[in-house]
Amino acid sequence: MTPHIEAAPGAFAKTVLMPGDPLRAQFIATNYLENVREINRVRNMFAYTGTFRGKPVSVMGSGMGMPSIGIYSWELFKEYDVERIIRIGSCGAYTEDLALYDVVLATHVYSETSFGQTQNGESSPYRKPSSALNHALIQCAHALDIPLKTGTIHSCDVFYRENFEDFRRIYADFGAICVEMEAFALFHNAQVLGKEAACILTVSDNLVTQEAASAEARQTAFTRMMDVALGVL
Ligand code: ADE
Repeated sequence: MTPHIEAAPGAFAKTVLMPGDPLRAQFIATNYLENVREINRVRNMFAYTGTFRGKPVSVMGSGMGMPSIGIYSWELFKEYDVERIIRIGSCGAYTEDLALYDVVLATHVYSETSFGQTQNGESSPYRKPSSALNHALIQCAHALDIPLKTGTIHSCDVFYRENFEDFRRIYADFGAICVEMEAFALFHNAQVLGKEAACILTVSDNLVTQEAASAEARQTAFTRMMDVALGVL
């Protein structure tokens, strides 16, 4: 047990899928996994362990933002011997080259957050995912014939920015093609603890065109992303 997770030691599989929304975790457990056990309810941050085609896997919500995923990923890696976490989330596109529902695989993450500086003094604004995990995700997507866009993503601490147009500067200066709010802390923790992490995202809105996905279409796109993530098992 940890301050935020009540699961028994050994209750998590070595691989954990982390959507932001705990109800999404519940949906995945119900619709994709077999032999499912609920292992956490603390703060309603639901977690489940089950199997997918016979392979053990856990799924747990991360909550929104780097402080939240920073806590859960740390405790999973350090206290529950989890080896790899794949974040499955949504993002806002910074370029017209990304259409709604495209699936993006992060090759790097840029962030202006103080998370790394505060956690261990590391001041670089970039973190990287596991290249082995990314390689496996690319192979899965290929085998399933699901197109994958790859690039640097932006992890932002602020959803409602006063200067909305600032995204254009981040796209131009740092090459970030889309924005979400968690990957930097996840990749940082994985790096510090010698574990693996990756992040795949579905485009839910586009800041250039100001289009936003409907809830129904998001579900279909989410299914494709899930198929890619579960394929690595
Ligand atoms: N996740 C999905 N869309 C987003 C946006 N516009 N900003 C931050 N995170 C997001």
